[in-house]
Amino acid sequence: MIPTLEWTDKGVNFLDQTKLPLEETYVLATTYQDVATVIRDMIVRGAPAIGVSAGMGMALAVQKSPATTVDALLKDVDEAAAVLAATRPTAVNLFWGIERIRTLVRKLAASQPADRSDADKLKAITDEVIAEANRMYDEDIAACKTMGQFGADLLPKKGTVLTHCNAGALATCGYGSALGVIRAAVERGHVIDVLADETRPFLQGARLTAWELMKDNIPTSVLCDNMSGALMRQGRIQAVIVGADRIAANGDVANKIGTYTVAVLAKEHGIPFYVAAPWATVDMATKHGDDIPIEQRNAYEVTHSNGKQMTPDGVGIENPAFDVTPAKYVTGIITERGVLYPPYDDTMLAMQAEVNAA
Ligand code: MRU
Repeated sequence: MIPTLEWTDKGVNFLDQTKLPLEETYVLATTYQDVATVIRDMIVRGAPAIGVSAGMGMALAVQKSPATTVDALLKDVDEAAAVLAATRPTAVNLFWGIERIRTLVRKLAASQPADRSDADKLKAITDEVIAEANRMYDEDIAACKTMGQFGADLLPKKGTVLTHCNAGALATCGYGSALGVIRAAVERGHVIDVLADETRPFLQGARLTAWELMKDNIPTSVLCDNMSGALMRQGRIQAVIVGADRIAANGDVANKIGTYTVAVLAKEHGIPFYVAAPWATVDMATKHGDDIPIEQRNAYEVTHSNGKQMTPDGVGIENPAFDVTPAKYVTGIITERGVLYPPYDDTMLAMQAEVNAA
């Protein structure tokens, strides 16, 4: 399995996704500030991977805190949460990962026996938090595998599947969400060719999706972002599957910029458009996709390619990193708890009730 990120005795080790596919190098984050940089600079990216990285960053904050009392530790943890939360605004998994550890730390702090020494309390909290961060990692891989089982038969027995961005092993702790569903279908004997949109400007499709699917010998071709409409019109695409960065309570989906265009084209051509995402990507507190914050990234990503300037000096630049696909374009949402179908207002609420009851 591709080692996207890993907790080690020395810190959190990240496969540097900015260097792929030409170099497989690692970046070791030894502090939560390092983890924040790794997330902001997209050394690690993809909503589920960002969520678990944030959880591990919080665990590093606890482990490396100079605090000598539980109260001082709580302050340090809040500070780390604020720094990590300021890295990337769109993927709700980031905030899920931070809050999962922060809530645990508070609970553990409140439940320490009064007769324990401060040092013993801090050690007990640290051990539990590191174990929790590693559980988040294991759960993410398990969720991807389960999504694969739920989604595999939604893909054609034989045909071409288009994907946008990278929702694969590299965007999760392993196996992938959208690419996990493709992997599971292939494991079941489906004969699938993958078309990977190159995904300008960061090229997650051309660099990352192509790299990881080729490692698994899944036939893959890269196409420029403006080509899929023509291929759909020629009947060359049987299904589309993508990941998500945040799903609103009405089923609107924020994902990598360009997803909306693909979804509208798919509907026009009668092609099913699936979203695969763990439940941690669902944000029931956000009622409508228009309320999802969209990250605006640096103009340099658009003006330059591989360090070479592509646009005239001084030209205006747009670089929204994500867009919102209204629920009406989404055929189904594959989660580790099952597949949701429209009307999403109702089906998402029902699944949330199941989650609350579990
Ligand atoms: O900017 P990125 O590379 O973090 O964006 C990633 C995506 O948009 C993915 O499609 C999404 O996070 C789902 S990953 C399973």
